[in-house]
Amino acid sequence: MKLLSLDRNENLYGPAPACLDALRGTGMEELSLYTRNYLHGTKSVLSERLAADTGIPERQILLGNGSEDLLKQAVHCYLRPGATMLLPEHSWWYYHSVAAEVEGISVRYPLRDAGDRYAYDAQPIIDLYDEHAPGVILIASPNNPTGNSIPSETLEEVIHHCTDAVVVLDEAYHGFAGDGHERIVEFVAMHPRVIVLRTFSKFYALAGLRIGYAFVGKGLERLITYSARYLGFNRVSESVALAALDSTAYYSAMARQMEADREEYYRTLAGVPGLTCYRSDANFVLVRYNPGARKEIEATLTSRGIIVKFLSEPGLQDCLRVTLGTPEQNALVLGAFSVSRTARLHTPIAPIPVSP
Ligand SMILES: Cc1ncc(COP(=O)(O)O)c(C=O)c1O
Repeated sequence: MKLLSLDRNENLYGPAPACLDALRGTGMEELSLYTRNYLHGTKSVLSERLAADTGIPERQILLGNGSEDLLKQAVHCYLRPGATMLLPEHSWWYYHSVAAEVEGISVRYPLRDAGDRYAYDAQPIIDLYDEHAPGVILIASPNNPTGNSIPSETLEEVIHHCTDAVVVLDEAYHGFAGDGHERIVEFVAMHPRVIVLRTFSKFYALAGLRIGYAFVGKGLERLITYSARYLGFNRVSESVALAALDSTAYYSAMARQMEADREEYYRTLAGVPGLTCYRSDANFVLVRYNPGARKEIEATLTSRGIIVKFLSEPGLQDCLRVTLGTPEQNALVLGAFSVSRTARLHTPIAPIPVSP
C-alpha cells in the first residue's frame, strides 16, 4: 500500500511548473561558479529580488538554509545562557530545542482556545515580558500546530511594549490565507529589533531546496554580520526560488483551492460527532477528538495508509494535526474520519421502524 504522509506540513500540490523548468535549465554557470553579487555589495539575486518586491533594504534581508537555519542563527545570536525565550504554549517543538542549545530557558505564554480557533492575546505576553525580561520573544503566525495568526494590532502592542527583547515572528506558513501581515514592512522599518522569518518550503512547495529568508530590523547588526556568507548561497536553489516568485498565477490558484480544501474539512468534520476541527490559516488543520476514540481513529487511518501527526504535548493530547493534501487525498482522509468509531460512538442510534 502506498503511504500518504500528512504529518510534516509539506505542500503536496508541488511547485509551479516554472520551478522545474528553472531546474532543468541549470547550467555550468550556476553549478560551477560562485556568485559575483558581492562585487556590487549584495548577497544574491534572490535577496535583491526580495528587496525590490518588498521595499526592505537588501542589507536587512538575510538568506538561510531554510527558515530553521535563520531561527537558529537568531537565537544563537541573541539568547544568552540562563536568559528567557517566550514562546507560545502550543508551538513547533524546535523552538524549545534551539533555546536549550544555548542554555536558554523557555517560558510559554498561553494561547486562547476560542472554540473553533486559537487566538493570540497581547496581555499575557506583556505580563511575562515584565516578569522575565526575555532576550527573545517568539511568535508564530500562522502558528504550528494551532493554525491561527496574530492580528497586526496584537503584534504591534507586543512590539511597542517589549522594546528590549528581540521579537522573532515566524511566518513559515505565510501566504496560505490571503494575508494579514502586509504591515510587516512597516514593522521592520519602525522596530529595530524585529525579525520576520519566511521560507520557500511551505507556500512555494520547495521544502527540498532548503531556502528561507528573514527581514530584520536595523538594530540587529550582529545577526546581519553573523549570517553573511562571503562566497554566496546556493545558486541553483536561488534560480528555482526566483521562478516561484514569478509564478503568481499558479500560487494564487493554489491558495484559493486550499482555502476551499480547508472549508471542506470544517464542513465535513463538523458532521462527525466527537471531533472539533479548528480554523487554520495554514496548510494543515488541528483536530480535537474524543480521547476514547484514539485507537480507532489511528487504526482506521493506518489501515488506509494515511499518516497524520498525533500530538502528545499538554493541552493537546487529544489532538492530531493533518496536513492538507490535494482534494483527492483530502477526500481519503475525510472518508476515514467519517467511518471512524468517533462518529459511531456518538451518533444516536436510529429508532427501528415499527410496522403499522
Ligand atoms: C512553524 C515552523 N517554522 C519553521 C519551519 C521550518 O521550515 P524550513 O526550515 O523548511 O523553512 C517549520 C517546519 O515545519 C515550522 O513548522
